Order: sequence, then structure tokens, then C-alpha cells
Amino acid sequence: MKGIVLAGGSGSRLYPLTRIMCKQLLPVYDKPMISYPLATLMQGGIRDICIISTPKDLPVLQSFLGSGTELGLTLTYVVQPRPEGIAQAFLLAEEFIAGQPVTLILGDNIFYGDYFYGDGGFSRAVREFEDGGLIFGYYVSNPQDFGVIEFDAHGRTIGIEEKPRAPKSSYAVPGLYVYGDDVTAVCRQLRPSPRGELEITDINRAYLERGQLRVERLGRGIAWLDTGTPSSLQEANAFIEAIEKRQGLKIACLEEIAHHQGFIDREHLARLVEGLPRCDYRAYLERLLAQSR
Ligand code: TTP
Repeated sequence: MKGIVLAGGSGSRLYPLTRIMCKQLLPVYDKPMISYPLATLMQGGIRDICIISTPKDLPVLQSFLGSGTELGLTLTYVVQPRPEGIAQAFLLAEEFIAGQPVTLILGDNIFYGDYFYGDGGFSRAVREFEDGGLIFGYYVSNPQDFGVIEFDAHGRTIGIEEKPRAPKSSYAVPGLYVYGDDVTAVCRQLRPSPRGELEITDINRAYLERGQLRVERLGRGIAWLDTGTPSSLQEANAFIEAIEKRQGLKIACLEEIAHHQGFIDREHLARLVEGLPRCDYRAYLERLLAQSR
């Protein structure tokens, strides 16, 4: 399974924060935003990952993340010249995808909860994925701002609408999508929507029409946050701070996840830690190293 983090866009709702700064490097409490979606892919066992961003921001993201070898990853960087839709990612990354199944996550989406840890939830869904499309449904108070899923009386998915005025359910589609090796072919059939974008909702509809779309509903114990507005960014900051302080455990600490997933061994982690400045982040990793002796 390949992975894509889509980290471009215009970030207009966060202006002027995004006038100079790359949106996906803005802080979410104690680390840059992109650490969170990257962590989610890594927790799914995905190591071969493509970062897509704007011509302005891609070099900055690349200097932050590098080749990925520090984390036992292989990172590839691809430019999106203009923000022409989430679905465009599959065309831009066609060479990278190379006819394999692929998971796409949006660079400003944060997922938290047991489903995203251990072997049973997301990582199992990725491991056992074969073909078609797998998306998630999350109950929200403002479904009209997202792609919204329509279910029949038996709970089967019968439709998906992008930002509907009258949503047919409260289940929004979060920015995490798993597709089979035919996703680029599906993408080629798409036409831009009235807002001039290749819509991810149209990909989902195409799989739905073929009877190949699976929707997994994420339960109430899971947090899905997006960070696209000043207030949602602030809420995400507060959420991460509250959990990290309460537990003394970090969310989306990439070095910890790389070690936990077996992407890097203990010696490799110890070398990484030695290269860090003296700070809380380093002290946290030193504690982990001491505990794993
Ligand atoms: P959005 O939040 O829909 O768009 P945006 O980030 O450009 O922000 P705004 O609406 O405030 O201008 O995008 C969700 C995520 O997907 C975000 O991480 C940016 C990314 N994205 C792209 O990289 N390219 C695209 O063409 C689109 C539409 C989004």
C-alpha cells in the first residue's frame, strides 16, 4: 500500500497566517500540522509515501521531512501547480502509485483514537484491503461543510453529496481514503466540477455506482479534527495539549511511531535522539528509550 499526504491548497481561510507560512507546517500544539496525517499513515503500516504540495511550499516541506530514511520511510515529493482538487492527487502521483493500492490523507486532518493504534483498526483495514474504495463516515454537527453520506433504512450507503444544502445524514466523509490500483483510471474519467476542481466525491460516487465502495463508520470514541480555520486550528491545539498533558504521551511523535512500527530499530532511534536539541521532545524520546531497554 502506498500513501499520499495532500498538503497543498491555498489556505485562504487561515490568511494571513498562510501569507508566508506553509499551512501544513503551522503548529498544532507542539509539532507541525503535517506530523499528524503522516503519523496516521505510518500507524497504518504505510512507509512509501508521496507528499504533494504547491510550488512554493513543497521545498519547505522537503527540508522539514527530508528523504524519510531517518524514520524508515521512503518519501517522494510532487508539485501540484494549482489547487485543482483533491482527486487530482492521483493523476499527479500516477508514477509514484505505479498501479498499486493507495491511501490518501489530507495534510490538515487529524485522527485520534484507539482505531488508529495497534493492529486491529486502521492498520488492519489497510492490510486486508484488496480493491474498490474504502472511506469513513464521521458524525458531525455541520455535515453541510463536507461530503455527506446517505444511507438506506438498512444502513447501506446509497449516495454521497458534496457540501449539500440539505444533508441527508450527519455523517461526513473525513479526509482519509483508501483506493484500489484502478484509482488513476477512475480519475481520468472525471470532469472538473462547477468550482473547477476534480472532486474526491466523484471518485467515491464512481466506486459506489459499481458496488465497490465500503464505508466504515468511525465511532464516538474517535476524534477527527481538521485545522483549516483559525478556530478549528485553535481547537486542535487545545485538544492535543489536553490529551498529551493528561497522559504524558505524545500524539504523532514520528520517531516513536517509526520505532513502534518496526521501521527503525532501537539503535537507530537512539542515534536520532542524540542529534536533537535539549528540549521536552528529546526528553520524551529519552524516556521511551530507557523504558524499552
Ligand atoms: P481545503 O481545506 O479544502 O483547502 P485549502 O487548504 O486550500 O484552504 P482554504 O479553503 O482555506 O483556501 O483543503 C483540504 C486539504 O487538501 C488541505 O491540506 C489542502 C489540500 N488540498 C490540496 O493540496 N490541493 C487541492 O487542490 C485542494 C482542493 C486541497
